[in-house]
Amino acid sequence: MSTTLPAFIHRFEPGDAGRPPLLLLHGTGGDENDLVPLGRMVAPGSALLSPRGQVLEHGAPRFFRRLEEGVFDHEDVRRRADELAEFVRDAQARHGIAAPVALGFSNGANIAAALLFRHPGLLAGAALLRAMVPLPEAPEGSLAGTPVLMLSGTMDPIIPLANSRRLAQGLGEAGAAVTARELPLGHGLSQMDVNLAREWLAAL
Ligand code: MLT
Repeated sequence: MSTTLPAFIHRFEPGDAGRPPLLLLHGTGGDENDLVPLGRMVAPGSALLSPRGQVLEHGAPRFFRRLEEGVFDHEDVRRRADELAEFVRDAQARHGIAAPVALGFSNGANIAAALLFRHPGLLAGAALLRAMVPLPEAPEGSLAGTPVLMLSGTMDPIIPLANSRRLAQGLGEAGAAVTARELPLGHGLSQMDVNLAREWLAAL
């Protein structure tokens, strides 16, 4: 069963105007605090915008509803992605920040992918850690010039590798500059993810 929180509870930490802000998107059961230490590690000096997912699954915050593990409520994915896009635009205006680069883990990576599908141009880039295809349709517009890093685990029991590969292919076909790495890891993050994300972000 899932219920909905009223508004995006979030954290914002200001940063250097010269570095792209990060939009931090946590995994199932996380909150706005979860990825802040990771964000500071991989993007020192960047502003951090970190919302909490508004859907509660047995009390665990998520960014959209699912019918079961790996089976998404696509109508809800679309609606939640649109609401998150509006939150990001408002936050940009409120805090005077540039288009953010998303850094999402698991469910957070999946909603970041949904933002790419439905709101091309909203994100300056996206680092998708353990992501899968969020929607059955293709991205709605061109993602030309949008850099995307995908870090997938070859032993991930939650995200089938073939599904991550399909996402990388779909984003690439829409024009995104995709760097996809398959790591000898499971669903959890490791130092390897931290190092690769930091290097990729530093090169933006
Ligand atoms: C999802 O529901 O987004 C994925 O299955 C990842 C997860 O949150 O377990």
